[in-house]
Amino acid sequence: MPDMPPALREAARRRRWTPEGLSRLAAALPKVETHLHLDGALSPETVRRLADADPRSPLRGLSVEEIRRKVVVDQPRASLGAVLDAFHAYYPLLRTAEAVELSAYEMIRECARQNILHAEARFAPSLQAAEGFPMEEVLAAALRGLKRGEEDFGVSGGAIICLLRPFSVVDRDANAAMAGLAARFAGRGVVGLDVADAGAGGERLSEYGRWLRDGRAAGLGLTAHAGESPRGGEIEDALEIGVDRIGHGIILRERPDLVKELVRRGTVVEVNPTSNLRTGAVASYRDHPVRAWRDAGLLTTLSTDDPGVFGIDLVHEYEALSRDAGFSAEELVELAWNGVWSLFLPEARRRELAVRFELGAAAALDKS
Ligand code: ADE
Ligand code: ZN
Repeated sequence: MPDMPPALREAARRRRWTPEGLSRLAAALPKVETHLHLDGALSPETVRRLADADPRSPLRGLSVEEIRRKVVVDQPRASLGAVLDAFHAYYPLLRTAEAVELSAYEMIRECARQNILHAEARFAPSLQAAEGFPMEEVLAAALRGLKRGEEDFGVSGGAIICLLRPFSVVDRDANAAMAGLAARFAGRGVVGLDVADAGAGGERLSEYGRWLRDGRAAGLGLTAHAGESPRGGEIEDALEIGVDRIGHGIILRERPDLVKELVRRGTVVEVNPTSNLRTGAVASYRDHPVRAWRDAGLLTTLSTDDPGVFGIDLVHEYEALSRDAGFSAEELVELAWNGVWSLFLPEARRRELAVRFELGAAAALDKS
């Protein structure tokens, strides 16, 4: 990854930043989303629209405020599994092409509002597939939403397909089918492959190695949820498979040896601080290991994971790190720069985005 342009570093260092100035910078800075789940991104407003269009939805007829109270996880829960339980309110809303397309389109609208240049949206087509709505159509609908969003809001997007744990919820055949679908759509809207969770527990990441390697051979970028909650050997498995990025990686807190190895390889960690608070993985923003990781030279990007489920946006995450984890203006810009260069895009497209980023960041530093 190229170093952040010195002119941006100097511009960020030149000023004495007030908390208000840093908040303005968080909003104005061009950003990217590297780790965002499409189902987890549904806002209460979109949930309401989808519920009202579905005669069988238990959320039909509720106000946005009532929906917010029912579905948003705005307090820490006991575990990742307890947070994933909340998704059962969301999955049934995305079982038609119209709903999936709308979810991607609205996600891009929301990105535009926050000065996000590009968003990688991840999802598992097998969770949305239903009678008469096969996985391939789920994917096609999401890609249409991303494309229409780009046309209307100027924010580009790519799809990352999530393979899922545990096999007791999503079996091997469904995972194999998703991996095959991702490979077939490589370069046609699908940019990467991930392993995420559809329930508590599950098989080792190494069980997914073959599918991830096939994805790599088809030209896809690789990421995996690993070390998000205590479960032995996940980072080691991710390293063995050779992923480009790791989602969360919280257990690296106790493993300086693995941090060193990730630094050596240039593997990126996708950091989602509020998500980690809500799953109980970290006690506070101040306690988040991202501070120590950055100081150890680990490449980190900042994302929201599930902005709808958690009732947050990406600006909130930048603000939280500046307010509570001591991130300076320079370090906020660096997080966003890392994001641009971590995207699963051809080098020429990244370079193009980096040019737009540099211009936009200079202007944001100037006016914040
Ligand atoms: N799916 C949605 N959010 C997730 C998370 N934080 N970890 C794993 N899978 C997820
Ligand atoms: Zn995630």
